[in-house]
Amino acid sequence: MADIPHFTVLPRHIGIIMDGNGRWAKMRGLPRTEGHRKGAEVFRDITTYCCELGIEVVTFYAFSTENWRRPPEEVGVLMNLFRDFLAETQRREQENEKMGFRIRFIGDMNRLPEDIRSLAAVLEARSSSQTHTTVNVAVNYGGRQEIVRAARAFAEKVKAGELTPDEISEEDFSAEIYTAFQPDPDMIIRPGGEFRLSNFMTWQSAYSELYFTDVYWPDFTREELNKALTEFDRRNRRFGGI
Ligand code: FPP
Repeated sequence: MADIPHFTVLPRHIGIIMDGNGRWAKMRGLPRTEGHRKGAEVFRDITTYCCELGIEVVTFYAFSTENWRRPPEEVGVLMNLFRDFLAETQRREQENEKMGFRIRFIGDMNRLPEDIRSLAAVLEARSSSQTHTTVNVAVNYGGRQEIVRAARAFAEKVKAGELTPDEISEEDFSAEIYTAFQPDPDMIIRPGGEFRLSNFMTWQSAYSELYFTDVYWPDFTREELNKALTEFDRRNRRFGGI
């Protein structure tokens, strides 16, 4: 394994938009779903590397609220990849415990098949005391949907007389969204050559450093993450000077 380079400043929380799977597959004359399969392997490796680096939180955009519009076969393959990941996480529980992995799912899990929902809930609960690295997997996630959900929760509290509208603060909002009590992402990485956030962590990304690369997600390696971290380090070290 290659040595970990020295970084002066590391992000506490990294967000990753796993994009470019379909194009990666097309370039090779493969079905799009092969790109997702390779993408799932890369997801595992980058997760492990983030843990080795001591990153506190890493959030992966795995399935957006818009992704239901894809052909049923592709949605089915993605669901099966989530199943495989859950089964593997369950199998490797002891190893994950040793590494200090906490797993969380963010998004509206209600629309997911029952077996995925229930195993996800079990694994979340069983890893909830781990503190080294939290892995948030965003599934059926949308940043605007997350904000609307929080607004509804406040509306209910106001209706119940527990809160007045002018008492609602940014801190209250941060505590009501899926990533409550986690630091906001210091850096968001988007491979795949597009320059937008596509409804990913809309509330949390207000001050995030953004890093875009043309590399497709299935080709994203530890070396690519090092490049992003070096850039993050460079941007942050500037704050120390005059
Ligand atoms: C976007 O690429 C990627 C997705 C919609 C799916 C990402 C999911 C995985 C990598 C599956 C593994 C995840 C876990 C948690 C096991 P795209 O298909 O939009 O690519 P394109 O823009 O090139 O078409």
